[in-house]
Amino acid sequence: MKGLILSGGAGTRLRPLTHTRAKQLVPIANKPVLFYGIEDMAAAGITEIAIVVGDTHQEIRDAVGDGSRFGVKVTYIRQEAPLGLAHCVLISRDFLGDDCFVMYLGDNMLEQGLAEFIEQFEQQHEERSDQHLDVSSESDPGLWQAQILLTPVDNPSSFGVAELGPDGGVVNLVEKPADPPSNLALVGVYIFDSTIHEAVRAIEPSARGELEITDAIDWLIQSGHRVSHQMLEGWWIDTGKKDPLLECNRLVLDTVIRRVDGAVDDSSKVEGRVVVSEGAKIVNSTVRGPAVIGADTCIENTFIGPYTSIGGECEITDAELDHSVVLDGCRIEGVSRITDSLIGQHVQVTHSPERRRVVRLMLADHSHLELG
Ligand code: TTP
Repeated sequence: MKGLILSGGAGTRLRPLTHTRAKQLVPIANKPVLFYGIEDMAAAGITEIAIVVGDTHQEIRDAVGDGSRFGVKVTYIRQEAPLGLAHCVLISRDFLGDDCFVMYLGDNMLEQGLAEFIEQFEQQHEERSDQHLDVSSESDPGLWQAQILLTPVDNPSSFGVAELGPDGGVVNLVEKPADPPSNLALVGVYIFDSTIHEAVRAIEPSARGELEITDAIDWLIQSGHRVSHQMLEGWWIDTGKKDPLLECNRLVLDTVIRRVDGAVDDSSKVEGRVVVSEGAKIVNSTVRGPAVIGADTCIENTFIGPYTSIGGECEITDAELDHSVVLDGCRIEGVSRITDSLIGQHVQVTHSPERRRVVRLMLADHSHLELG
């Protein structure tokens, strides 16, 4: 079993951050989203992984390297433009060969591990392979060619939606249907055998100009191939937008184990699930967990409230922050209070010394600012 992680794409829904960085490298509890996916694959025993990359390829290569730090071998496949998830399979043909593979969206996070999902597919694939040898072709139900992960949702019209047959096989799959056949949405993890290569060559681009993976899977079904499913356990989040990203940060922070490697002075309080990384300093401040404070960050005369991740080498002084993600190298001074916020790298948020209530701004394209 090989792994294919999709980390190209445009990332329009996470602008302005994605003007300058790959959305798959935005940190959740100070670790890039993409790393969780790689670690998940490694934990399931997958050692050969290809990452499909787009314009942000260099940044992803710099962060992930050859994969040895995760115990895997990483190959990069350059996608010239975000032409769709099925297009990613199309251009990965040489890497994938005739092997089965797990495909994972690089900006998605799952609570459950991949091992059980892979195990079910391998069992079914094997069982069917055995039957394949024993039964006549007329009664042969065929191998399971693919497996998808499903979860019930309240708004199926916003997702790829599956309809199941009596044996648990998927009988119909539609992308963002106006009239959904069920409430079962497709989660961003799939397993395929080599039949998918025929499917991605057979389908046409959709109205939005992309080769859709739902169309490729539906092609498998309509061509008489078999697609099984597993129901998702636990949460699943597409971190490609701000609020789901903050929610994901919250869910992961709830699981961090307290560790204080940095320095906390006597007039500070560090309460609950908090990680204070090496070289960080907490001076005359309160950090109320769950929270993580990155390496070499200095927090002074400040209140950091629950569900906050502060990156490395930040300076936060005379401020109040909670339920936010702050990336590396930021300076926040004299600001009360920042909440529900996602702040990019090397951002400065400071207080104007003038007495008039003025706001001075230098914001990147597509920035969002809510003033109280
Ligand atoms: P999406 O979030 O569906 O698409 P996007 O990255 O273009 O984002 P937006 O809608 O905000 O513009 O993509 C899911 C994942 O798959 C994500 O990690 C990017 C990746 N991807 C590719 O690698 N190639 C592609 O052609 C597409 C469409 C997505």
